[in-house]
Amino acid sequence: MVKVGVILGTRPEIIKMSPIIRELKNKNFFLIHTNQHYSKNMDKVFFKELNLPKPDYNLNIGSGSHGGQTGKMLIEIEKVLLKEKPDFILVQGDTNTVLAGALAASKLCIKIGHIEAGLRSFDRKMPEETNRVLTDHISEFLFAPTEIAAKNILNEGISNEKIHIVGNSVVDATIQNLEIAENNENICKFLSKITGNKKYFLLTLHRAENTDNFEILSDLVTSINKLSENYGKNIIFPIHPRTYKKLSEFNLIDKIKSNSLIKIIEPVGYLEFLILEKNAELIVTDSGGLQEEACILNVPCVTLRENTERPETIHVNSNILAGSDPKNILNSVEKMLKSDRSWNNPFGCGNSGKLIVDIVLGEKKY
Ligand code: UD1
Ligand code: UDP
Repeated sequence: MVKVGVILGTRPEIIKMSPIIRELKNKNFFLIHTNQHYSKNMDKVFFKELNLPKPDYNLNIGSGSHGGQTGKMLIEIEKVLLKEKPDFILVQGDTNTVLAGALAASKLCIKIGHIEAGLRSFDRKMPEETNRVLTDHISEFLFAPTEIAAKNILNEGISNEKIHIVGNSVVDATIQNLEIAENNENICKFLSKITGNKKYFLLTLHRAENTDNFEILSDLVTSINKLSENYGKNIIFPIHPRTYKKLSEFNLIDKIKSNSLIKIIEPVGYLEFLILEKNAELIVTDSGGLQEEACILNVPCVTLRENTERPETIHVNSNILAGSDPKNILNSVEKMLKSDRSWNNPFGCGNSGKLIVDIVLGEKKY
């Protein structure tokens, strides 16, 4: 029986791997968690809400420099792979966990399935771009979400035989969990409590290129303040720990806290977050997953970045790139608020988990 190792480490990986883990239930698989994310609301809350099995291996790597963090993961993942000897490992996305997991497996000649393969921002300043490119080039199974992603890797010389267009498992996760969230009385009460039943914009921000640069982060703070003033709307801001740390370090946090329309809250669970997204008038973000989820949930999105590896969202007009310039951001918001929300989701119909597991488990027959 084919043995599969699933490796994950951060909030979006836990969420987007959840449909695959569900499909692997009762199959020969084990789960490695690097603990790149470890705070309760970035980690355990998702295992609980998504009803996922406890990881077989918790590596307790935590935070660190890119090299330090990736290196520690590589050492620890290798030990587990040597012990477990899987036929395949599966990684999802573009984090340091993904690169470490893929590299450890590749050196041991264990086949790699890369879920969300082929995404490209073509911006090598992003740590995620390096992780994506390297992982794609050492994988045997490249699970591209869309035709565009598949073309990107074909253009890099990867053989067509390795590429499977399977949609994005974020659609599975969204569909599987939105209904649960909407039928949960406590989650609906949470929504009322946080929003006061008023219209709101939902904001998230955490990408290194935005948070770690004082000028850019200052511009973003100015933009967020202007946005709330111009529209007189609440901005709900579940804040990533990285962003809180950086806003504090740069003495920018009070500029946000002093604005009563901006509601900073701790990161929330996936069910709570889906409800916040679904009911938002607009999503303002630099997150990859949110660009997709906004598109799936038919909520207009303004992306606080100069580029995106999710161009499908721009093509269907669910998303616009606004960078960090306040004027640009305000113009983009104005434009997206006029959206008729009539786009179709380009990320598949929610069966990615099943397709991926079928392909991986069927491999030994050939
Ligand atoms: C990582 C990924 C990014 C992804 C994001 C999802 C890389 C290079 N980056 O960024 O692609 O979009 O996860 O959220 O892999 N921290 C905590 N608690 C936690 C986790 C982090 O307090 O549970 C704080 C620490 O101060 C840490 C900082 O956040 O230094 C950054 O964490 P890290 O995992 O290095 O990167 P993310 O910004 O989370
Ligand atoms: N998310 C969540 N709670 C929050 C913020 C985000 O559950 O407070 C979810 C969101 O629905 C999406 C994922 O986290 O599925 C996105 O993660 P993040 O933005 O951290 O990473 P990225 O997608 O940019 O890699």
